[in-house]
Amino acid sequence: MIKVISKKNKIAAEIICDVKKLKNSELKKIKFALNKFGMIYFRNQNLSSSNYLKFAKKLGIPADYPRLKGLSSKYTKITVVERKTTDKGPSFGEQFHTDSIYTKNPPRFTMLLSKLVPKKGKANTEFSSQYLAYKNLPQNIKKKLKNLKAIYSSEGPISVTTHEREKEKGKQKNELTSKHKIIKKINKKLSIFCSPGHFISFSNLNKKEEIKLKRFLFRHQIKKKFQYSLEWEKNQLAIWDNRSMLHQATPFKGNRIMHRITIC
Ligand SMILES: [Fe+2]
Repeated sequence: MIKVISKKNKIAAEIICDVKKLKNSELKKIKFALNKFGMIYFRNQNLSSSNYLKFAKKLGIPADYPRLKGLSSKYTKITVVERKTTDKGPSFGEQFHTDSIYTKNPPRFTMLLSKLVPKKGKANTEFSSQYLAYKNLPQNIKKKLKNLKAIYSSEGPISVTTHEREKEKGKQKNELTSKHKIIKKINKKLSIFCSPGHFISFSNLNKKEEIKLKRFLFRHQIKKKFQYSLEWEKNQLAIWDNRSMLHQATPFKGNRIMHRITIC
């Protein structure tokens, strides 16, 4: 039997089970929890790349990550997110964002499996529930955002952290842009769908209004009461709904290796 333990404000849940040995009914519960909480994590999952990919395929179709190369020719869908002690500048993903929002169809889920991590609590990933952020918006802002779209780019504010990795992996730089509605219905719930890390501009809004709205929205989206800070330990697997959860890496010094899969 699997056990689901709800965390702070029901933003996240820890699930106790072995993801290699799941019955169909248990997998159903995991999918339900992922939709309900937005972020779920599993401790003590010593998964081979083959088992990791096998589990990912039970949640959907593993996607290509347009910016980085895969782990190997056999595991092109697993990308390595690595931070070294010698790295200068910010860590990969060190600003609240939605993965690949600059594509037409950003992934539904992102998975991270920790292979090497610093001391517990030293390199957390922070999540911010955009269901809660939407629910707590003032009525006048809800109205303003209702039909508004925003433009995003892979060269947005967060891209500085990607460039360090690209230099190492040799993947070519090629700007990708997209336009999406800011309010989105996900799992029958309304959510703010806006990535500060990739934001370029609102569509059809004058500069003065844009500055005002952007300042309000970006602060609101990441209020502490919407956030959950995930502490990492080795062999921990986290999965989140990429459309309803913003996430960011916290700054740290040390070595960290994560294996990442995105699901469309
Ligand atoms: Fe990310």
